[in-house]
Amino acid sequence: MSDRDTFNSTWPMIREELMSFVREYSLGDEVNTHILNMFEHSIPGGKMNRALFVIETVKILKGRALTESEYEEASVLGWCVEILQAFFLVADDVMDQSITRRGQPCWYRMPGIGLDAINDSFILENVIYALIKKHFAGKPYYVDLLEIFLKISFRTELGQLMDLTSTPKDMQLDLSRFTEERHTNIVVYKTAFYSFYLPVCIGILCAEVKLAKAGWDIVEKMCIEIGKFFQIQDDYLDCYGDPETIGKIGTDIEDAKCSWMVVKALQLCSPEDRKMLDACYGKKDSENVKKVKELYGKLDLSKVYHEYEDASHAELMEMMKGIEGFPVEVFMYLIKKIYHRTK
Ligand code: FPP
Ligand code: MG
Repeated sequence: MSDRDTFNSTWPMIREELMSFVREYSLGDEVNTHILNMFEHSIPGGKMNRALFVIETVKILKGRALTESEYEEASVLGWCVEILQAFFLVADDVMDQSITRRGQPCWYRMPGIGLDAINDSFILENVIYALIKKHFAGKPYYVDLLEIFLKISFRTELGQLMDLTSTPKDMQLDLSRFTEERHTNIVVYKTAFYSFYLPVCIGILCAEVKLAKAGWDIVEKMCIEIGKFFQIQDDYLDCYGDPETIGKIGTDIEDAKCSWMVVKALQLCSPEDRKMLDACYGKKDSENVKKVKELYGKLDLSKVYHEYEDASHAELMEMMKGIEGFPVEVFMYLIKKIYHRTK
Protein backbone atom coordinates (compact mmCIF):
# COMPACT_ATOMS: atom_id res chain seq x y z
CA MET A 1 0.00 0.00 0.00
CA SER A 2 1.32 3.47 -0.84
CA ASP A 3 1.89 5.99 1.96
CA ARG A 4 -1.10 7.91 0.63
CA ASP A 5 -3.38 4.84 0.71
CA THR A 6 -2.22 3.97 4.23
CA PHE A 7 -3.03 7.51 5.34
CA ASN A 8 -6.40 7.55 3.58
CA SER A 9 -7.36 4.27 5.22
CA THR A 10 -7.45 6.11 8.58
CA TRP A 11 -10.22 8.46 7.35
CA PRO A 12 -13.26 6.45 8.61
CA MET A 13 -11.78 6.47 12.11
CA ILE A 14 -11.10 10.22 12.06
CA ARG A 15 -14.56 10.90 10.58
CA GLU A 16 -16.10 9.06 13.51
CA GLU A 17 -14.08 11.14 15.98
CA LEU A 18 -15.12 14.35 14.24
CA MET A 19 -18.75 13.25 14.29
CA SER A 20 -18.52 12.48 18.01
CA PHE A 21 -17.75 16.19 18.62
CA VAL A 22 -21.09 16.98 16.95
CA ARG A 23 -23.21 14.10 18.28
CA GLU A 24 -22.22 15.07 21.80
CA TYR A 25 -24.89 17.79 21.60
CA SER A 26 -27.71 15.46 20.44
CA LEU A 27 -29.03 17.99 17.94
CA GLY A 28 -30.74 15.32 15.87
CA ASP A 29 -30.34 13.57 12.55
CA GLU A 30 -30.72 16.65 10.38
CA VAL A 31 -27.67 18.37 11.87
CA ASN A 32 -25.65 15.17 12.07
CA THR A 33 -26.38 14.24 8.46
CA HIS A 34 -25.61 17.72 7.16
CA ILE A 35 -22.24 17.73 8.88
CA LEU A 36 -21.39 14.16 7.91
CA ASN A 37 -22.10 14.97 4.25
CA MET A 38 -20.09 18.17 4.50
CA PHE A 39 -17.08 16.36 6.03
CA GLU A 40 -17.26 13.60 3.40
CA HIS A 41 -17.51 16.11 0.59
CA SER A 42 -14.76 18.46 1.66
CA ILE A 43 -12.08 16.63 3.68
CA PRO A 44 -11.05 13.43 1.80
CA GLY A 45 -10.39 13.15 -1.94
CA GLY A 46 -7.44 15.51 -2.31
CA LYS A 47 -3.80 14.71 -2.96
CA MET A 48 -3.16 14.60 0.81
CA ASN A 49 0.35 15.96 0.25
CA ARG A 50 0.21 18.22 3.29
CA ALA A 51 -0.61 15.27 5.56
CA LEU A 52 2.16 13.20 3.99
CA PHE A 53 4.59 16.08 4.63
CA VAL A 54 3.80 15.90 8.37
CA ILE A 55 4.24 12.12 8.56
CA GLU A 56 7.45 12.11 6.49
CA THR A 57 8.97 14.92 8.58
CA VAL A 58 8.39 12.90 11.75
CA LYS A 59 9.87 9.77 10.12
CA ILE A 60 12.98 11.57 8.87
CA LEU A 61 13.56 13.32 12.19
CA LYS A 62 13.23 10.06 14.13
CA GLY A 63 15.47 8.36 11.59
CA ARG A 64 13.40 5.16 11.57
CA ALA A 65 10.00 3.68 10.81
CA LEU A 66 7.29 4.88 13.20
CA THR A 67 5.66 2.66 15.80
CA GLU A 68 1.90 2.26 15.55
CA SER A 69 1.18 4.93 18.14
CA GLU A 70 3.74 7.35 16.64
CA TYR A 71 2.10 6.86 13.24
CA GLU A 72 -1.30 7.53 14.75
CA GLU A 73 -0.13 10.81 16.30
CA ALA A 74 1.53 12.00 13.11
CA SER A 75 -1.48 11.02 11.00
CA VAL A 76 -3.93 12.85 13.30
CA LEU A 77 -1.84 15.98 12.78
CA GLY A 78 -1.85 15.22 9.06
CA TRP A 79 -5.66 15.17 9.17
CA CYS A 80 -5.64 18.47 11.07
CA VAL A 81 -3.75 20.12 8.20
CA GLU A 82 -6.12 18.51 5.69
CA ILE A 83 -9.13 19.83 7.63
CA LEU A 84 -7.52 23.28 7.70
CA GLN A 85 -7.15 22.98 3.93
CA ALA A 86 -10.84 21.96 3.64
CA PHE A 87 -11.83 25.00 5.74
CA PHE A 88 -9.88 27.32 3.45
CA LEU A 89 -11.06 25.73 0.21
CA VAL A 90 -14.77 25.66 1.09
CA ALA A 91 -14.55 29.40 1.83
CA ASP A 92 -12.18 30.18 -1.05
CA ASP A 93 -14.49 28.57 -3.61
CA VAL A 94 -17.34 30.85 -2.50
CA MET A 95 -15.09 33.91 -2.72
CA ASP A 96 -13.65 32.89 -6.13
CA GLN A 97 -17.05 31.66 -7.38
CA SER A 98 -15.38 28.46 -8.50
CA ILE A 99 -17.30 25.64 -10.14
CA THR A 100 -15.54 22.39 -9.30
CA ARG A 101 -13.02 21.14 -6.80
CA ARG A 102 -11.42 17.70 -6.70
CA GLY A 103 -13.56 16.63 -9.63
CA GLN A 104 -16.91 17.39 -7.99
CA PRO A 105 -19.03 20.52 -7.57
CA CYS A 106 -17.67 22.94 -4.95
CA TRP A 107 -19.48 22.45 -1.63
CA TYR A 108 -21.36 25.76 -1.89
CA ARG A 109 -22.74 24.59 -5.24
CA MET A 110 -24.26 21.43 -3.83
CA PRO A 111 -28.09 21.41 -3.66
CA GLY A 112 -29.42 23.38 -0.70
CA ILE A 113 -26.02 24.69 0.44
CA GLY A 114 -25.20 28.07 -1.13
CA LEU A 115 -23.80 30.64 1.29
CA ASP A 116 -24.45 28.30 4.24
CA ALA A 117 -21.07 26.92 3.15
CA ILE A 118 -19.49 29.87 4.98
CA ASN A 119 -20.77 28.58 8.30
CA ASP A 120 -19.69 25.06 7.34
CA SER A 121 -16.17 26.36 6.79
CA PHE A 122 -16.13 27.67 10.37
CA ILE A 123 -17.26 24.27 11.63
CA LEU A 124 -14.36 22.69 9.77
CA GLU A 125 -12.00 25.13 11.45
CA ASN A 126 -13.40 24.37 14.87
CA VAL A 127 -13.11 20.59 14.75
CA ILE A 128 -9.36 20.94 14.15
CA TYR A 129 -9.02 22.22 17.70
CA ALA A 130 -11.31 19.54 19.11
CA LEU A 131 -9.16 16.89 17.43
CA ILE A 132 -5.91 18.45 18.67
CA LYS A 133 -7.31 18.64 22.20
CA LYS A 134 -8.45 15.04 22.14
CA HIS A 135 -5.09 13.67 21.06
CA PHE A 136 -2.52 16.16 22.35
CA ALA A 137 -3.90 17.90 25.46
CA GLY A 138 -1.45 16.00 27.68
CA LYS A 139 1.64 16.63 25.56
CA PRO A 140 4.29 19.20 26.47
CA TYR A 141 3.93 20.75 23.01
CA TYR A 142 0.10 21.14 23.12
CA VAL A 143 0.15 24.93 23.40
CA ASP A 144 2.81 25.19 20.68
CA LEU A 145 0.53 23.18 18.38
CA LEU A 146 -2.45 25.45 19.05
CA GLU A 147 -0.37 28.56 18.55
CA ILE A 148 1.12 27.45 15.28
CA PHE A 149 -2.28 26.53 13.81
CA LEU A 150 -3.69 29.91 14.86
CA LYS A 151 -0.69 31.90 13.69
CA ILE A 152 -0.58 30.20 10.32
CA SER A 153 -4.36 30.55 9.84
CA PHE A 154 -3.97 34.28 10.45
CA ARG A 155 -1.19 34.56 7.88
CA THR A 156 -3.26 32.60 5.35
CA GLU A 157 -6.22 34.92 5.91
CA LEU A 158 -3.92 37.91 5.32
CA GLY A 159 -2.75 36.23 2.10
CA GLN A 160 -6.34 35.65 1.06
CA LEU A 161 -7.07 39.32 1.74
CA MET A 162 -4.21 40.38 -0.53
CA ASP A 163 -5.37 37.90 -3.18
CA LEU A 164 -8.95 39.17 -3.07
CA THR A 165 -8.08 42.86 -2.99
CA SER A 166 -5.42 42.82 -5.69
CA THR A 167 -8.33 44.09 -7.83
CA PRO A 168 -10.58 46.19 -5.56
CA LYS A 169 -14.25 45.60 -6.42
CA ASP A 170 -15.29 49.20 -6.93
CA MET A 171 -12.25 50.24 -8.93
CA GLN A 172 -11.40 50.14 -12.59
CA LEU A 173 -8.95 47.30 -13.28
CA ASP A 174 -5.43 48.69 -12.87
CA LEU A 175 -2.91 46.15 -14.08
CA SER A 176 0.03 48.31 -13.01
CA ARG A 177 -0.75 47.06 -9.48
CA PHE A 178 0.22 43.51 -10.52
CA THR A 179 3.91 43.60 -9.66
CA GLU A 180 6.12 40.62 -8.94
CA GLU A 181 6.50 41.89 -5.39
CA ARG A 182 2.74 41.92 -4.80
CA HIS A 183 2.46 38.46 -6.32
CA THR A 184 5.20 37.07 -4.06
CA ASN A 185 3.51 38.47 -0.95
CA ILE A 186 0.19 36.92 -1.95
CA VAL A 187 1.56 33.46 -2.65
CA VAL A 188 3.82 33.28 0.39
CA TYR A 189 1.00 34.26 2.74
CA LYS A 190 -1.97 32.52 1.16
CA THR A 191 -0.20 29.24 0.33
CA ALA A 192 3.40 28.69 1.45
CA PHE A 193 2.87 29.04 5.19
CA TYR A 194 -0.01 26.60 5.58
CA SER A 195 0.99 24.16 2.84
CA PHE A 196 4.68 23.68 3.63
CA TYR A 197 5.87 25.54 6.74
CA LEU A 198 2.97 24.36 8.94
CA PRO A 199 3.27 20.61 8.11
CA VAL A 200 7.03 20.65 8.72
CA CYS A 201 6.69 22.65 11.97
CA ILE A 202 4.09 20.33 13.46
CA GLY A 203 6.17 17.34 12.31
CA ILE A 204 9.08 18.79 14.30
CA LEU A 205 6.85 19.30 17.37
CA CYS A 206 5.42 15.78 17.07
CA ALA A 207 8.90 14.21 16.77
CA GLU A 208 9.83 16.16 19.93
CA VAL A 209 13.21 17.19 18.62
CA LYS A 210 14.67 20.39 20.00
CA LEU A 211 15.63 22.79 17.27
CA ALA A 212 17.81 25.87 17.71
CA LYS A 213 16.51 29.18 16.32
CA ALA A 214 18.82 28.78 13.30
CA GLY A 215 17.12 25.46 12.50
CA TRP A 216 13.62 27.00 12.60
CA ASP A 217 14.86 29.84 10.38
CA ILE A 218 16.16 27.36 7.79
CA VAL A 219 12.80 25.54 7.83
CA GLU A 220 10.92 28.79 7.29
CA LYS A 221 13.18 30.00 4.49
CA MET A 222 13.12 26.70 2.58
CA CYS A 223 9.38 26.13 3.03
CA ILE A 224 8.62 29.63 1.79
CA GLU A 225 10.75 29.11 -1.31
CA ILE A 226 9.15 25.75 -2.07
CA GLY A 227 5.66 27.11 -1.35
CA LYS A 228 6.21 30.06 -3.62
CA PHE A 229 7.04 27.72 -6.46
CA PHE A 230 4.01 25.54 -5.64
CA GLN A 231 1.56 28.44 -5.96
CA ILE A 232 3.18 29.59 -9.20
CA GLN A 233 2.49 26.06 -10.48
CA ASP A 234 -1.11 26.48 -9.31
CA ASP A 235 -1.33 29.74 -11.25
CA TYR A 236 0.06 28.02 -14.34
CA LEU A 237 -2.25 25.01 -13.98
CA ASP A 238 -5.25 27.33 -13.50
CA CYS A 239 -4.73 28.29 -17.14
CA TYR A 240 -3.02 25.28 -18.73
CA GLY A 241 -3.91 22.35 -16.46
CA ASP A 242 -6.37 19.76 -17.71
CA PRO A 243 -9.57 20.23 -15.64
CA GLU A 244 -10.05 16.43 -15.72
CA THR A 245 -6.64 15.98 -14.11
CA ILE A 246 -6.55 18.93 -11.72
CA GLY A 247 -10.19 18.42 -10.71
CA LYS A 248 -11.06 22.12 -10.97
CA ILE A 249 -11.81 24.74 -13.59
CA GLY A 250 -9.55 27.79 -13.59
CA THR A 251 -11.15 31.17 -12.89
CA ASP A 252 -8.10 33.43 -12.46
CA ILE A 253 -8.59 35.47 -15.66
CA GLU A 254 -12.34 36.01 -15.07
CA ASP A 255 -11.66 36.86 -11.41
CA ALA A 256 -8.94 39.41 -12.35
CA LYS A 257 -6.45 37.60 -10.12
CA CYS A 258 -2.89 38.79 -9.65
CA SER A 259 -1.66 35.47 -11.03
CA TRP A 260 1.94 34.65 -12.04
CA MET A 261 0.66 34.28 -15.63
CA VAL A 262 -0.58 37.85 -15.95
CA VAL A 263 2.40 39.26 -14.05
CA LYS A 264 4.71 37.58 -16.61
CA ALA A 265 2.51 38.66 -19.53
CA LEU A 266 2.69 42.27 -18.33
CA GLN A 267 6.48 42.06 -18.19
CA LEU A 268 6.79 40.61 -21.69
CA CYS A 269 4.00 42.16 -23.74
CA SER A 270 4.06 45.00 -26.29
CA PRO A 271 2.15 48.29 -25.74
CA GLU A 272 -0.51 46.96 -28.17
CA ASP A 273 -0.93 43.73 -26.20
CA ARG A 274 -1.14 45.76 -23.03
CA LYS A 275 -4.13 47.66 -24.37
CA MET A 276 -5.88 44.37 -25.11
CA LEU A 277 -5.09 43.08 -21.57
CA ASP A 278 -6.44 46.28 -20.03
CA ALA A 279 -9.66 45.79 -21.98
CA CYS A 280 -10.13 42.01 -21.59
CA TYR A 281 -8.59 40.90 -18.27
CA GLY A 282 -11.10 40.28 -15.49
CA LYS A 283 -14.14 40.04 -17.77
CA LYS A 284 -16.43 37.08 -17.23
CA ASP A 285 -17.28 36.21 -20.86
CA SER A 286 -15.41 33.53 -22.77
CA GLU A 287 -14.48 35.79 -25.71
CA ASN A 288 -12.37 38.04 -23.49
CA VAL A 289 -10.86 35.08 -21.66
CA LYS A 290 -9.94 33.56 -25.02
CA LYS A 291 -8.12 36.74 -26.09
CA VAL A 292 -6.08 36.76 -22.88
CA LYS A 293 -5.19 33.08 -23.37
CA GLU A 294 -4.17 33.80 -26.97
CA LEU A 295 -1.73 36.41 -25.70
CA TYR A 296 -0.32 33.90 -23.19
CA GLY A 297 0.18 31.55 -26.15
CA LYS A 298 1.83 34.23 -28.27
CA LEU A 299 4.23 35.10 -25.43
CA ASP A 300 4.95 31.37 -25.00
CA LEU A 301 4.27 31.58 -21.27
CA SER A 302 4.27 27.80 -21.14
CA LYS A 303 7.96 27.83 -22.08
CA VAL A 304 8.67 30.74 -19.71
CA TYR A 305 7.02 28.73 -16.93
CA HIS A 306 9.01 25.54 -17.64
CA GLU A 307 12.25 27.53 -17.66
CA TYR A 308 11.25 29.08 -14.34
CA GLU A 309 10.46 25.62 -12.95
CA ASP A 310 13.97 24.35 -13.83
CA ALA A 311 15.65 27.52 -12.51
CA SER A 312 13.69 27.39 -9.26
CA HIS A 313 14.60 23.71 -8.80
CA ALA A 314 18.29 24.46 -9.39
CA GLU A 315 18.16 27.35 -6.91
CA LEU A 316 16.61 25.17 -4.20
CA MET A 317 19.30 22.52 -4.76
CA GLU A 318 21.93 25.24 -4.37
CA MET A 319 20.29 26.56 -1.17
CA MET A 320 20.36 23.07 0.30
CA LYS A 321 24.12 22.70 -0.11
CA GLY A 322 24.81 25.08 2.76
CA ILE A 323 22.30 23.65 5.24
CA GLU A 324 23.47 22.30 8.59
CA GLY A 325 21.43 21.49 11.67
CA PHE A 326 18.34 20.17 9.89
CA PRO A 327 17.97 17.09 7.66
CA VAL A 328 17.69 18.28 4.07
CA GLU A 329 15.85 15.01 3.28
CA VAL A 330 12.69 16.75 4.54
CA PHE A 331 13.01 19.46 1.88
CA MET A 332 13.98 16.87 -0.75
CA TYR A 333 10.73 15.05 0.01
CA LEU A 334 8.61 18.20 -0.41
CA ILE A 335 10.40 19.08 -3.65
CA LYS A 336 10.05 15.58 -5.08
CA LYS A 337 6.33 15.60 -4.40
CA ILE A 338 5.62 18.83 -6.27
CA TYR A 339 8.10 19.45 -9.10
CA HIS A 340 6.81 18.53 -12.56
CA ARG A 341 3.34 17.83 -11.17
CA THR A 342 0.36 17.96 -13.50
CA LYS A 343 -2.27 18.08 -10.76
C1 FPP B 1 -6.46 29.13 -2.64
O1 FPP B 1 -5.88 29.88 -3.60
C2 FPP B 1 -6.43 29.94 -1.40
C3 FPP B 1 -6.34 29.41 -0.18
C4 FPP B 1 -6.28 27.98 0.05
C5 FPP B 1 -6.35 30.33 0.98
C6 FPP B 1 -7.75 30.58 1.38
C7 FPP B 1 -7.87 31.28 2.66
C8 FPP B 1 -9.05 31.60 3.16
C9 FPP B 1 -10.32 31.29 2.45
C10 FPP B 1 -9.08 32.32 4.43
C11 FPP B 1 -10.05 31.69 5.42
C12 FPP B 1 -11.22 32.49 5.58
C13 FPP B 1 -12.24 32.50 6.47
C14 FPP B 1 -13.56 32.02 6.05
C15 FPP B 1 -12.15 33.11 7.80
P1 FPP B 1 -6.45 29.81 -5.08
O2 FPP B 1 -7.81 30.37 -5.12
O3 FPP B 1 -5.41 30.40 -5.97
O4 FPP B 1 -6.44 28.22 -5.30
P2 FPP B 1 -7.46 27.34 -6.13
O5 FPP B 1 -6.97 27.47 -7.52
O6 FPP B 1 -7.25 25.95 -5.60
O7 FPP B 1 -8.82 27.87 -5.87
MG1 MG C 1 -9.66 29.69 -5.54
